[in-house]
Amino acid sequence: MATDVTSPAVPVHVAIVMDGNGRWAKQRFLPRLAGHRQGLETLRAVVRWSMARGVRVLTVFAFSSENWKRPVDEVSGLMGLMAKALSREVPELSRSGVRLHFPGDRAALPAAVAQGLAQAERDTAGNDRLVLNVCFNYGGRWDVVQAAARLAQRGEAVTEAGLSAELALAHVPDPDLLIRTGGELRISNFLLWQLAYSELFFSDRLWPAFDEAEFDRALAAYAGRQRRFGLTPEQIQAPSAPAH
Ligand code: FPP
Repeated sequence: MATDVTSPAVPVHVAIVMDGNGRWAKQRFLPRLAGHRQGLETLRAVVRWSMARGVRVLTVFAFSSENWKRPVDEVSGLMGLMAKALSREVPELSRSGVRLHFPGDRAALPAAVAQGLAQAERDTAGNDRLVLNVCFNYGGRWDVVQAAARLAQRGEAVTEAGLSAELALAHVPDPDLLIRTGGELRISNFLLWQLAYSELFFSDRLWPAFDEAEFDRALAAYAGRQRRFGLTPEQIQAPSAPAH
């Protein structure tokens, strides 16, 4: 029997690895942090474009578990940028109907940043136009391990459904589309479990230079893909004509 796995032309959930801030800054003889600041501007714009096109969930990789190994001034600069972004952006995001989540390990973050993330989650909890997951001190392996540890602590059997329910993105469906900017072709310990069946789009644009036309190219590429979820092309049922 044919199985209907057709998916809407617009992805419900878009995930993004925002790569290339450092190179963008270097090309302009600017400090790396200037690239991250400009990257934040791109993120503000992508939130708007996503809402305008009917995307319901946007998940971005803002600080990875491995980013602590960067120079101390870059790490503290990113922490400062997050603190500033929280105070400047949250009121407007909230007015636009954005619900914020910050998946990641809070334990290692400066206390003021960790409290700011929790507060922003509480302040936007009633919104439902777009879920914006800003992954901060996040790693795909950390996520799977923390989920498994919670099951083990409760003495529960490890099942796909049980583990999924403990992951940091349990509140949203898996990403339909992953975009990575900056020209690198890798996942870099992002959503290892959740990307199992996501469509991938790699852009050569550096993140601060990622624009609306390139975002639309990614969405158009997605709309042209046939998602098979392990089935054969013959098992995929084309949308049937309406009955007369
Ligand atoms: C990767 O570019 C980008 C990051 C590690 C940080 C992404 C952060 C933002 C876009 C700003 C929003 C962040 C906050 C804190 C709200 P890279 O530095 O690896 O660039 P490169 O590959 O060119 O060196």
